[in-house]
Amino acid sequence: MMRLTAMLLTASAALAADVQPFKDAGPYVPSPQSVVSDMLRYADVGPNDFLIDLGSGDGRIVLTAAKVFGARGFGVEIKEDLVKRANDAAQKEGLADRAKFLKQDLFKTDISQATVVTMYLLPDTVNLLKDKLLTELKPGTRIVSHDYPLTGWMADNLWQMDLEEKVKISGVTTTLIYLYVVPAKVAGKWQAHMPPAISRQPAALTLKQQISRVSGSLRLDGRDVPIEDGKLRGEHLSFRLVGHKGEFSGVVKGGAIEGMIDGKMPWTATLGG
Ligand SMILES: C[S@@+](CC[C@H](N)C(=O)[O-])C[C@H]1O[C@@H](n2cnc3c(N)ncnc32)[C@H](O)[C@@H]1O
Repeated sequence: MMRLTAMLLTASAALAADVQPFKDAGPYVPSPQSVVSDMLRYADVGPNDFLIDLGSGDGRIVLTAAKVFGARGFGVEIKEDLVKRANDAAQKEGLADRAKFLKQDLFKTDISQATVVTMYLLPDTVNLLKDKLLTELKPGTRIVSHDYPLTGWMADNLWQMDLEEKVKISGVTTTLIYLYVVPAKVAGKWQAHMPPAISRQPAALTLKQQISRVSGSLRLDGRDVPIEDGKLRGEHLSFRLVGHKGEFSGVVKGGAIEGMIDGKMPWTATLGG
């Protein structure tokens, strides 16, 4: 009897979890086809990309990515009829092996496979996704958002245009496309090996990070020299040292940075130390 009650309780908990109302991330409003093309072109989508559209509507972003740009991917959409319409279109156009659509809550979708994420969602929804995007996506993944920014993030690029067909959607012609590149994680203490002109010994490099903005200092001759203009675009780090000429650039691979100063003098750093 006890076992049966426990089983029933487990089953009803599972059922409750299953029927939990999903959060409505925005109504169905398709992006104009010209915006879809621009979003994919600006994100430089190509045959090596795996694109995920969060809230895929009639599937036009994933379908265009597959048909015109040669990418693969899927869209998640909460409305069953739209999912069916998108899968039917994929079938009809011979794209079903590369473009799939799932009836699924975008907030519960595993997006770690993506190299490109697209979205046209309500402004507050876009912002609710910030932690998910940062946690699940690999450094270098491009995020393209139609009209609404990730507040507090520095866009890697922003395009603005006027489109008459947007008046019936948003009341104005203004159309914005935001591009973000997921930054590598660099915050921490690094041991840097600089060219002799800067330091003959390993130097402590302390990096702080706020999404893609980087600050910190390099310890030289017992003095902390601050970093300025520090930023990350995916795995690509760049900064300057106050009072020093030259731009430091580098590629971050996990716990190692390999870089150049002004593209000619190599420097490296390892995490820790
Ligand atoms: C503004 S439309 C964008 C459609 C398409 N991405 C485009 O740009 O043409 C947003 C879509 O998100 C869907 N949606 C809303 N909340 C969702 C959720 N929690 N999970 C999945 N889809 C959702 C809506 O049904 C709607 O089709």
